[in-house]
Amino acid sequence: MRAATRGTDGPAVSQVPDPVPAAGQVRIRVAAAAVNPVDLATQHGFFGDRAAAGLGWDVAGTIDAVGTGVDALAPGEAVFGFRDRLSAATGSHAELVVLDATAVAPAAGLDPLRAAAVPLNATTGWQGLDRLDLPAGDTLLVTGAAGAVGRFTSTLARRRGLRVVAAVRPGSTDRAPAGADHVVETSAGWPDAVRALVPGGVDGVLDAAGLDAPALDALRPGGRYLSVQPALPLPVALRGTHTTALSAYSDRAVLAELAKLATVGELELPAVEEFPLAEIAAAYARAAQPGRTAAVVLVP
Ligand SMILES: NC(=O)c1ccc[n+]([C@@H]2O[C@H](COP(=O)([O-])OP(=O)(O)OC[C@H]3O[C@@H](n4cnc5c(N)ncnc54)[C@H](OP(=O)(O)O)[C@@H]3O)[C@@H](O)[C@H]2O)c1
Repeated sequence: MRAATRGTDGPAVSQVPDPVPAAGQVRIRVAAAAVNPVDLATQHGFFGDRAAAGLGWDVAGTIDAVGTGVDALAPGEAVFGFRDRLSAATGSHAELVVLDATAVAPAAGLDPLRAAAVPLNATTGWQGLDRLDLPAGDTLLVTGAAGAVGRFTSTLARRRGLRVVAAVRPGSTDRAPAGADHVVETSAGWPDAVRALVPGGVDGVLDAAGLDAPALDALRPGGRYLSVQPALPLPVALRGTHTTALSAYSDRAVLAELAKLATVGELELPAVEEFPLAEIAAAYARAAQPGRTAAVVLVP
């Protein structure tokens, strides 16, 4: 198969042996695979020697083969999921990818191009909200709300009965997620703008833009802060706040819920910009550009 690996001058596509599903694993024929910040970071050596050279986490496609002991999924089934093990020699930026069956859920009826941009970022929103565990009626500040994690988080938070303050870059209010209760631009002094809207501060923060201390500043005493950058130090937990960092993991039950919501139109599939796998360098360059709302998606 053709697969992308980390290269010194950027991601490179080459011919490699087909991956073989072990017990409990499935092999997916990739229909589409999103390019996410983690892929750009991997290419730039963020994980160093801890990661094999294979690139690509998110995937939508069709089950092509199953290992022993897999009875929940069968060849031919449309699925989506994401890779979260760094040791796999190849990832989803390839023609075939092998994942644990527990990391994959059916995605029948969803446009695979757009579904490919859902698993990692929507799961991050879902598991982040689980971790924050705010009761309905509380107010959540979502930073990076115009981005992939931020948009999904805002939608999922509203479904849980939370009020959402969406923080976006100055000049980006047109990219704010629909349904946010308030939109704030992150110009100088923006935590005070949040506090003007929510006197005393918000109950929780999901810091998808990695704004760190200023985001914590918008939080009420005793509130909860979640970082999605687990490799970075957490902001100092002032005023009795609780700080934690999430590493999202691919979970069939969560993915199944997300597929259900997408099917009934309660979770909007993102718009996509499509690139052939052979043009992976251009796709990575595009994904690195700020100001996008559409997801960058590779098609083998
Ligand atoms: N821990 C996990 O399991 C996990 C999982 C998924 C993602 N992540 C991480 O989550 C982060 C977001 O991922 P993503 O896919 O959502 O990326 P994305 O689509 O690029 O979104 C990031 C958003 O943050 C915005 N932003 C950056 N600086 C800002 C600022 N100063 N003020 C306001 N907004 C700002 C960006 O705006 P512009 O477009 O204008 O730059 C963009 O809208 C990344 O760091 C990613 O690595 C972590």
